[in-house]
Amino acid sequence: MADTHTPVRWQSRRAFILAVTGAAVGLGNIWRFPYITGENGGSAFLLQYVAFIVLLGLPVMMAEIMIGRTGRAGPLAALTQLARDNGRSRQWSKLAVFGGLTLFLILSFYAVVSGWSLAYLGKSINGDFVGLAAADVGAQFNGFLQDLPLMLGCHLAFLLMTMLVVARGVSAGLEKLNNLLMPLLYLLLLLLAGFAATTPGFGEALHWLFWPNPEALSWQATLDAMGHAFFTLAVGACALMAYGAYMPEEQSLPRAAVAVAVLDVVVALLAGIAIFAVVFSHGMEPAGGPGLMFVTLPVAFAEVPGGSLWLSAFFVLLVLATWTSSINLAEPLVAMLVDKQWPRPLAAAVVGGCVWMLGVLAALSFSLLSDWHPLGFIAVFDGKTLFDLLTSIPPDLFLPLGGLFIAWFAARGLTTEQIETALGSAFMARLWRVVVMWVSIPMLLAVLLITLYRW
Ligand code: TRP
Repeated sequence: MADTHTPVRWQSRRAFILAVTGAAVGLGNIWRFPYITGENGGSAFLLQYVAFIVLLGLPVMMAEIMIGRTGRAGPLAALTQLARDNGRSRQWSKLAVFGGLTLFLILSFYAVVSGWSLAYLGKSINGDFVGLAAADVGAQFNGFLQDLPLMLGCHLAFLLMTMLVVARGVSAGLEKLNNLLMPLLYLLLLLLAGFAATTPGFGEALHWLFWPNPEALSWQATLDAMGHAFFTLAVGACALMAYGAYMPEEQSLPRAAVAVAVLDVVVALLAGIAIFAVVFSHGMEPAGGPGLMFVTLPVAFAEVPGGSLWLSAFFVLLVLATWTSSINLAEPLVAMLVDKQWPRPLAAAVVGGCVWMLGVLAALSFSLLSDWHPLGFIAVFDGKTLFDLLTSIPPDLFLPLGGLFIAWFAARGLTTEQIETALGSAFMARLWRVVVMWVSIPMLLAVLLITLYRW
């Protein structure tokens, strides 16, 4: 095995967990989770999402890390080598390429929304939200989407921040800073959810989020919940394989994966509680779309003493969290080119340039290109802007599809011995394999096929 070639390991078990958490916790938890929960009727979405995390996200996350850990190399090299060693088709390496495409598409909208966060950091430091009523904050967001110089400037700034780190090939400093500051983000969210408990809409928010509501069930909610389980765990595009490659031998993979998933879900739930308490306290629309976080957070913090300071702190931490996530999105793309002998700075510049171009088009979906429906000729995508398409197709279809193949390869392409070594015991290996073969894969196939059929 390549084991002997790469003796590099994370310095500690904690370092591995923190790195994966850095990739997992980001806009997915604080921006995407609340708004798609809102669009899909609250609990009808949320309960499915939690089930998918446990039955699909977690087992596939273990599969992805396991492949990296066994191959001890980046996605492309690990898949190529494991397939060869274990007598599987060479085509398996294409899975890394498909993952790369997915990451590219996700990063292109991710950088846009991260740019929004950066702009909102500036606005909150500037005191732009002080004394505004809930409706005015909403109007301000809509105005912001038309403010192209500000929006595109922040998009570019965020992308530069990301690609500079990736170009230098070391994110160790950032990683450390992040590890130091992320607990503060969790604390702030906890505080915010605590304050939410004192607002009049709190009870209604909890009921709406957690009380089963079969009437709101829809196929769309199921598909979105499945996609989001992958998106929020950063699973399904081979991006976690590289992290697995550096995992210390003695670390328990299942335990690390569970720790990350629990933290990730808790962050999302806290954000959801805080945001929907605002929604119900102020008679706002839960299905507020991608602007939901930007409209509710300024209002939520306005109720906390010293709110605008806290709001600024929150956006600092949010930008940091999205930074580590977008580095995780960009790194495999750049690494793939570096493996083809490209100089790293050039690879980062080219990837960054392509992501920037697609991102600009996505960012214009709210103004100049609002009538452009790129896939309008397909009935289900009619009326969707480029931004709508990018925020739904890669997370909700491509990640589960990638996850399906990752799970299959890990369960069938690795030897029993390799799985046992990676998972730490014969019992865990057997349990994992049974869950993957009899629950995760059939479930994934069923949801994907029914989706296709309905189209
Ligand atoms: N999980 C991140 C979030 O919730 C997004 C992300 C980072 C991601 N790396 C990924 C999604 C790899 C899919 C694949 O914000």
